[in-house]
Amino acid sequence: MSKPHILVARKIFPEVIERLTQHFEVYANQDDNLWTQAELIERLQGKDGALLTGTQPVNAELLAACPQLRIAANMTVGYNNFDIPAMTSAGVQGTNTPDVLTETTADFGFALLMATARRITESEHYLRAGQWTRWSYDMFAGCEVHGSTLGILGMGRIGQGIAKRGAHGFGMNVIYHNRSRLSPALEAECKARYVGKDELLAQADHLVLVLPYTPESHHAIGAAEIARMKPMATLINIARGGIVDDAALAQALKERRIAAAGLDVFEGEPAVHPALLEVPNVVLTPHIASATVPTRLAMAQLAADNLVAFFDGRGALTPVNTPAKV
Ligand code: DGY
Repeated sequence: MSKPHILVARKIFPEVIERLTQHFEVYANQDDNLWTQAELIERLQGKDGALLTGTQPVNAELLAACPQLRIAANMTVGYNNFDIPAMTSAGVQGTNTPDVLTETTADFGFALLMATARRITESEHYLRAGQWTRWSYDMFAGCEVHGSTLGILGMGRIGQGIAKRGAHGFGMNVIYHNRSRLSPALEAECKARYVGKDELLAQADHLVLVLPYTPESHHAIGAAEIARMKPMATLINIARGGIVDDAALAQALKERRIAAAGLDVFEGEPAVHPALLEVPNVVLTPHIASATVPTRLAMAQLAADNLVAFFDGRGALTPVNTPAKV
């Protein structure tokens, strides 16, 4: 019996390619070329499955042009590149990589919060530029972290990881808002109190965004929401670009309507809104929250495991939809 044909759309760990080749005919983009959507569609011709890195849209156009495709396995927990209704009605299975990146991403969220609150990159640039000639009492005085109020918007696994770090490690008062409230046991574990979105905005000293990007969460934080935040608050986005209105945020940072922001994700990334590059009180990182070698390897392996389990007939391990015919 011939092996299923798989496309790996971006460069990934060679050992994962090696594992895939034991099960599939693999066409791997190990040169890491950035394909347009038309080029992706062209390369998907005759492929039964795809391993994607979360930036390539799997939409109605692609599905119509690739009728042989049965599964798209993202190497990410977020799957806003998937048009889920279109995939489900086309009988295409989608999968993601939950759990394996939770703690690493929560670590990064906390690191970004601290770098933002304590002005670490801003002060490093100052030092590197040779501007540090003497100590002064208010030099790079930032925002307090320990004992402050940590607000979390979106309380899935990563949000809970950040809550635990804040509450147990830094004695923070943790409040959160989410579509659904956590069980009392989970709230106790995270030492987190459920509040409405307005209260979250008004009370948080540090507001961390960890919610999925959907049409409903588009610009969930815009000028009106920022106006409700404390003037000394910080805003941290490790979720997805598009949840924050980057232009409104840049303006607020410029006018010091909030103290600072830490952003790992951007609307239209890898492009970054030029106004954000102009303001000093923002820490900018290139979507690296899950980027440690063990975690990225675990993500690639889980994406590969999904493909293997699916074509073995065991069913995807971490499905994100339930297609009628798979
Ligand atoms: C994810 O997994 O969704 C991350 O954003 C990619 O690192």
